[in-house]
Amino acid sequence: AFLGASVLGIMGCEGPQSALNPAGRGAEQIAQLFWWLVAVNTLIWILVVGLAVYAAQLRPGAHPHRRAKLLIIGGGVIFPILVLTIYLTYGLSLMPALLKPADSDDLQIAVSGEQWWWRVRYLSSSGGEVIELANEIRLPLGESVNLLLDSPDVIHSFWVPSLTGKMDMIPGRISRLTLKATKVGVYHGVCAEYCGSAHALMKLDVVVMTPDAFAAWLAAQGQPAAVPQQALAARGQELFQFEGCSACHTIRGTAADGQVGPDLTHVGSRLSLGAGTLPNKPAAFLRWIAHTEKVKPGVHMPAFGMLPEKDLRALAMFLEGLQ
Ligand code: CUA
Repeated sequence: AFLGASVLGIMGCEGPQSALNPAGRGAEQIAQLFWWLVAVNTLIWILVVGLAVYAAQLRPGAHPHRRAKLLIIGGGVIFPILVLTIYLTYGLSLMPALLKPADSDDLQIAVSGEQWWWRVRYLSSSGGEVIELANEIRLPLGESVNLLLDSPDVIHSFWVPSLTGKMDMIPGRISRLTLKATKVGVYHGVCAEYCGSAHALMKLDVVVMTPDAFAAWLAAQGQPAAVPQQALAARGQELFQFEGCSACHTIRGTAADGQVGPDLTHVGSRLSLGAGTLPNKPAAFLRWIAHTEKVKPGVHMPAFGMLPEKDLRALAMFLEGLQ
């Protein structure tokens, strides 16, 4: 029953957020280590159960002294030391490759874990201009990428199981993580360190693209916002400024230049809203703006449910139009 349950559990480990469905160099090594542990431990389990059955069958009063001593020293001391040493050596041998920093001319992305979202900045090779977005990382297939991880508030942990192992994001220091994606696709990441009331709602979309598609995407992200022209969206842009949204959010190419919350320059093009909590649809924008606290308890953004419905719709149209 135990084995059956384990197998069923492992069969559930598919999909875009599975360490056993690797799409990156680091995750491949971790999955390999996992399967080795499963195989060797299964053999050991069979051996131990076999010995237990053998011991249970011994006649009462039989005294297999010498054999018992051998079994205790061999099976209880030497065998575990041997197996654990092999595990440790194998595990340690994988680490240098996982932690090896990418070359300085590789793509650098600074990711900051904040309560409860991800600030993502693509750093230019000259160290000059920076493109900022939020809650979404796009990566070129087959290229090493250097992630620089930190946090301005509490400890978070960056974890995209399909790509590589997790790494803590510690206030006051920059941790480096190298990624190399090996399969095109959309993967999910989570915060893996308890960081407050909305910890479980701090999710991340990671999109692995072909190098050409990635270059086109990055160029488009570098452009200022294409502000939608319809009357309703124009009204939304006015409200965005007038109601104070621009004090916290930046929309490049407009007067909005707040630094507190996520950059919304191309928010309409992202895969989700509120760090993976809502789909990217006008109705979801409306729900988020009107009821932030219901969608994400503890969130720092105040709810704007006091605005009339038509204003909320105008804001939603404006933001959705920022492709
Ligand atoms: Cu951030 Cu948990």
